Amino acid sequence: MPRPPMHTLDAVAALRQTVRDWKRQGLTVGLVPTMGALHEGHLSLARAALAQADRVIVSIFVNPTQFDNPSDLATYPRTWDDDRRLLADAGVHVLYAPTVAEMYPAGFATHVSVAGVSAGLCGAHRPGHFDGVATVVCKLFLQSQADMAFFGEKDFQQIHVVRRMAADLDIPIRLVACPTLREADGLAMSSRN
Ligand code: PAF
Repeated sequence: MPRPPMHTLDAVAALRQTVRDWKRQGLTVGLVPTMGALHEGHLSLARAALAQADRVIVSIFVNPTQFDNPSDLATYPRTWDDDRRLLADAGVHVLYAPTVAEMYPAGFATHVSVAGVSAGLCGAHRPGHFDGVATVVCKLFLQSQADMAFFGEKDFQQIHVVRRMAADLDIPIRLVACPTLREADGLAMSSRN
């Protein structure tokens, strides 16, 4: 049977309506949060989601609040056309790509800060980074109402921060940690490589 085309959505309301329709049909929903510049590691998360959930959303949002360095944000790779093609070929159902104004409308004033696990390691070198991650991931969870979310074990501290945040805020979502994919020389695959 031919695969239905992937839909690209950029608004919270449209995402909510789509997920509401899926849930009315009794379908489960998986979310793979990304910042784009997709590589085989992201695709392995999408494949894990497709194996476990009836419908899969991949989000692409280069989240400004998790960059402590403006030039890092400006030079972060953006490969929109390739990303769209890869996700459609993988059989992802929805690509959710909100604008910065959709994610952080004028007057936005709330931040999620996860004490303890955000300190040390990466958090010690990137002030505010994990607050930015926790805030945007919290919003993505609430916007998508997904039943499960898929993260790479590569970002070890990030998984712990997100797990703590979801547990503390009673967000009903199951987190699935997926193995790190590596280049032939052993380097963990990353959009920044
Ligand atoms: O791991 C990432 O790509 C980002 O930190 C995430 C989880 C998509 C939040 O912006």
